[in-house]
Amino acid sequence: MAISLAEACRPATFSPSVFGAEILKLEADLVTNYSASVPEAFRYTAPAVELQNATFCNVTISYTHPGQDDNIVVEAWLPVDNWNGRFQAVGGGGWVAGRFFLSYNAMNGALADGFATITTNAGIGDAQDSSPWALISPGNVNLYNLQNLASVSLEDEAVFGKTLIKNFYGRDPEYSYWNGCSQGGRQGLMLAQRYPTIYDGIAAGAPATQWTELVPYIQWPQQIMNELDYYPYGCELDAITAAAVSACDGLDGVTDGIIARTDECVATFDPFSVVGTSVKCPQLNGTEVQISREAAVVVNATWQGMLFSHGRQTFHGIAPGADLTGNSPRSFGQPGIAATNCTAGGCVGSASTLGSQWLQLFIAKNPNLDVTSLERHEFDNLVRLGGQQYRSIVSTADPDLTEFRDAGGKIITFHGLADNIIPPKATENYYNAVAEILPNIQDFYRYFEAPGLGHCFGGSSGQPNQLFSQLRAWVENGTAPERSNIKVNLPENKTQDRILCPYPEQAEFDTQCGDAGSEKCWSCVAR
Ligand SMILES: *[C@@H]1O[C@H](CO)[C@@H](O)[C@H](O)[C@H]1NC(C)=O
Ligand SMILES: *[C@@H]1O[C@H](CO)[C@@H](O)[C@H](O)[C@H]1NC(C)=O
Ligand SMILES: *[C@@H]1O[C@H](CO)[C@@H](O)[C@H](O)[C@H]1NC(C)=O
Ligand SMILES: *[C@@H]1O[C@H](CO)[C@@H](O)[C@H](O)[C@H]1NC(C)=O
Ligand SMILES: *[C@@H]1O[C@H](CO)[C@@H](O)[C@H](O)[C@H]1NC(C)=O
Ligand SMILES: *[C@@H]1O[C@H](CO)[C@@H](O)[C@H](O)[C@H]1NC(C)=O
Ligand SMILES: *[C@@H]1O[C@H](CO)[C@@H](O)[C@H](O)[C@H]1NC(C)=O
Ligand SMILES: *[C@@H]1O[C@H](CO)[C@@H](O)[C@H](O)[C@H]1NC(C)=O
Repeated sequence: MAISLAEACRPATFSPSVFGAEILKLEADLVTNYSASVPEAFRYTAPAVELQNATFCNVTISYTHPGQDDNIVVEAWLPVDNWNGRFQAVGGGGWVAGRFFLSYNAMNGALADGFATITTNAGIGDAQDSSPWALISPGNVNLYNLQNLASVSLEDEAVFGKTLIKNFYGRDPEYSYWNGCSQGGRQGLMLAQRYPTIYDGIAAGAPATQWTELVPYIQWPQQIMNELDYYPYGCELDAITAAAVSACDGLDGVTDGIIARTDECVATFDPFSVVGTSVKCPQLNGTEVQISREAAVVVNATWQGMLFSHGRQTFHGIAPGADLTGNSPRSFGQPGIAATNCTAGGCVGSASTLGSQWLQLFIAKNPNLDVTSLERHEFDNLVRLGGQQYRSIVSTADPDLTEFRDAGGKIITFHGLADNIIPPKATENYYNAVAEILPNIQDFYRYFEAPGLGHCFGGSSGQPNQLFSQLRAWVENGTAPERSNIKVNLPENKTQDRILCPYPEQAEFDTQCGDAGSEKCWSCVAR
């Protein structure tokens, strides 16, 4: 009699090998009675789910690339009772490749749906802090670690995952998927660009593409404040956002507290128009302040995007409506890129480690570089040098997806128009660049803008929680997603139905139809 899968969950069952990798340790432990509650937010493209009493084989492999002095851990969960015959690898976030809470939430969700699932730590740990691994010594970047995060760990993980599945179930996965957002979205694009035959379907949300420009942009509002030597109260920035929402909300014909036409909003709403207005300020215990001109300069620069001092634009801006300060409860504690930290003595800048450490550790290679006192030409130069040194390693800006398309791959990207970290324009531009090379792009790549959605989750929108099953239907049945249902949150805690449309189409409300809360009154039209 064949041994059961539960009995097969032991190290001797598995014989993975990856060219260029040396396995240091393999563990296989049966996990039983495993339960988890997975909120929709942390699944990105699938509905909330309760995982109950799961039984799976937890296989962890520690390995190194000989000579590189790295130590990477991949962790695979292979369901014992309900395998759906499919493989789903999940992505990381921020400075982390995987094996952190968001990856584990995604794996819990994948497991609930019957997938065999996997994550990797790329050898760099699980902290939103690159200082433990960025430098080999002062002045010297650990390029192997960066390369592992950027690309190599992704191929390794996939080869390990597919082999473990073959070893355990005695057959290959029928279909293989990637599912990630932010860093995980960047990983998804890297896979489509550099390892185009690995995955049949890729869900790459809010991808951190053009990393070498994006990551300095995350520091850009702080740089502007440093140059002004003025750090506005959060209430000033939040009031400018609120004024933009009031002014631009109705541009799509529906008043719902959400800016759906962000380009039109940038073009028509002037942040300087509200300078001098009094606002109640939580950072001042509720006393009033007037919106300063400096606050408007910061907001203008954040929306318009990053420029060299001589004027050339180097990156897009996040759009009006995005939470600049991270103060909104709907931002789930994700920091705003223009955040300041205020006490009775006034405010100072509050920079994300993503931007500041990129400049310090990877470009200047100097942990003591004071990024708060850079003159603009120094900042410009760091941006330029970063692009020169790292674009090919980590930027995922190659628009030639011919190989991925020819291998039969399908890719779906969504991006919240209220993303407060990664500008949706970067995704739009990448998509347009692919379309220039491959005009029939919609045959294999579709991009959905999500009005009101924050960075991967949060903001005034629910998740595009149908997209993952739509990706599956596209991969497995050839049914391409023509639209996708979503719910938005209105200010008074009500939700309404909306639809997302494949770019360049956008959702348009039929005023004759009347009910903005009904998906029937919305259609996808050319913009
Ligand atoms: C399974 O887990 C649940 C809660 O997670 C617990 O109440 C129950 O006692 C566990 N059952 C066994 C057999 O361990
Ligand atoms: C939990 O799963 C195990 C293994 O599949 C099964 O034997 C057991 O009956 C399940 N318990 C409950 C309460 O569903
Ligand atoms: C899987 O095994 C690894 C290594 O022992 C452990 O760190 C991890 O927590 C385990 N995961 C689960 C879900 O048990
Ligand atoms: C607003 O941003 C644009 C684009 O970067 C810039 O040209 C303009 O000078 C800014 N306005 C002010 C008043 O800072
Ligand atoms: C804000 O400043 C206080 C006092 O200097 C400090 O303790 C705190 O860590 C800072 N918070 C952030 C988010 O930077
Ligand atoms: C707000 O009030 C608290 C408690 O009274 C005090 O510690 C704090 O300094 C005040 N903040 C400002 C900005 O005045
Ligand atoms: C593919 O189509 C079949 C038949 O309509 C359906 O049962 C199945 O669920 C579809 N698969 C996916 C992944 O949508
Ligand atoms: C909206 O929901 C939040 C969280 O559930 C709650 O704290 C708040 O009071 C609600 N607001 C209204 C107007 O019902």
